[in-house]
Amino acid sequence: MKDRGFTLRRAEEGDFDRWVALYEAVAAEGAWIGGEAPVDHDRLRRGFAERFVASESATMFLAEAGAELIGHLGIESHGGVADLGMMVAAGWRGRGVGTALLDAAIEWARQCGDHKVVLQVWPHNTRAQALYRKSGFVEEGRLQRQYRRRNGELWDAIAMGLILDTTSPGSSFEATG
Ligand SMILES: CC(C)(COP(=O)(O)OP(=O)(O)OC[C@H]1O[C@@H](n2cnc3c(N)ncnc32)[C@H](O)[C@@H]1OP(=O)(O)O)[C@@H](O)C(=O)NCCC(=O)NCCS
Repeated sequence: MKDRGFTLRRAEEGDFDRWVALYEAVAAEGAWIGGEAPVDHDRLRRGFAERFVASESATMFLAEAGAELIGHLGIESHGGVADLGMMVAAGWRGRGVGTALLDAAIEWARQCGDHKVVLQVWPHNTRAQALYRKSGFVEEGRLQRQYRRRNGELWDAIAMGLILDTTSPGSSFEATG
């Protein structure tokens, strides 16, 4: 396989400090993810350990270039639906890291037997939307004035989904109205 200049692996508890540094840097950009700087390290530390390291229904993939942590994707499965969030360090965007992380997460969801992968993305984040569409996600709706930002603004979010199980029957009830 072609050397892409980075590798992927699953996160471990000892990765927290490097992970939170990346999260905080992307949060500080103020435009792309739900988290905003300054971030709450204690809350994130608990979530990191409980949700992504110790849990069997969630995992986190890390992308590294040598010792540098350059991207992460966290994915959590509930009732057959896996919900994900991801980010790549600013200097590494547009070089295939996001695609590699997303491919790994979709494969993880398939292996778990999930029937669907979902995510939410800001309407202005066209780069992320392009990545998700390329991987087969489709827009399922727009959540209007859904998230309060710290400056008081209420932002819409686009819900996107990737169906993994296309063979189970849908609801047998007729749609009304
Ligand atoms: C969105 C993000 C995760 C994508 O990761 P990435 O490593 O930059 O993505 P890739 O290099 O694998 O590119 C994947 C696709 O995205 C699209 N893309 C990449 N750069 C783009 C750009 N500048 N403008 C528009 N689309 C772009 C292309 O479709 C690309 O596929 P292609 O290279 O085959 O044409 C990354 O840019 C990022 O972390 N952004 C900030 C945080 C964020 O937005 N997280 C997602 C929140 S929902």
